[in-house]
Amino acid sequence: MNAATDRYGRLAATFHWVAAALILLMLGSGFAATWGGLPVALQLHLPAGIALLVLTVARIVWALRDRRPPLPAGTPPWQAMVARTTHILLYVVPLGLVVSGMGMVIISDAAAAIFAGDRLPDFDALLLRVPHGLGARLLLALLALHIGAALYHQWVLRDRLLARMRLGA
Ligand code: HEM
Repeated sequence: MNAATDRYGRLAATFHWVAAALILLMLGSGFAATWGGLPVALQLHLPAGIALLVLTVARIVWALRDRRPPLPAGTPPWQAMVARTTHILLYVVPLGLVVSGMGMVIISDAAAAIFAGDRLPDFDALLLRVPHGLGARLLLALLALHIGAALYHQWVLRDRLLARMRLGA
């Protein structure tokens, strides 16, 4: 269950991969609702967002009591700092999106209309829509950095970084 010296524990790794899937689902359903003109995607966006909230809180609680395996030997301090900052933001930004998203639905009292497939309020008229849209784009940039760094380690440095998150041997 707990972290080993060279990799994350089973629970932390399970949390990580489920959160990754939920975040991709949230980005896909959010952009499908707005750019794709598919408001029905919000019927997935809302419950998946609540699940992500519960999961993120559980992850934070677990991360505070679990040991984190040290970064690969020889990681320059600036890379360690970028990695740490990115990892913290990957908790904070989704939480901000959940709060602003729930805020929009509560303020506009839209939950019933979303699930009934009725006409939706104009979310663009809400102030919270601005941080929600910006937060989603910031999250995309963070994911690109995070995934890019992981693949650079895995394929260029060949230090089998993904095994730390229990993907592969
Ligand atoms: C990590 C969590 C979340 C992510 C990644 C996310 C992502 C997105 C994205 C990408 C958009 C489209 C933004 C744009 O085109 O500018 C969006 C819109 C929206 N999201 Fe979220 N969201 C999250 C959480 C939530 C939650 C929890 C709720 C409500 C309970 C919510 C409600 C909405 C609403 C109402 C819209 C506007 C839809 C529209 O304008 O038609 N979001 N979200």
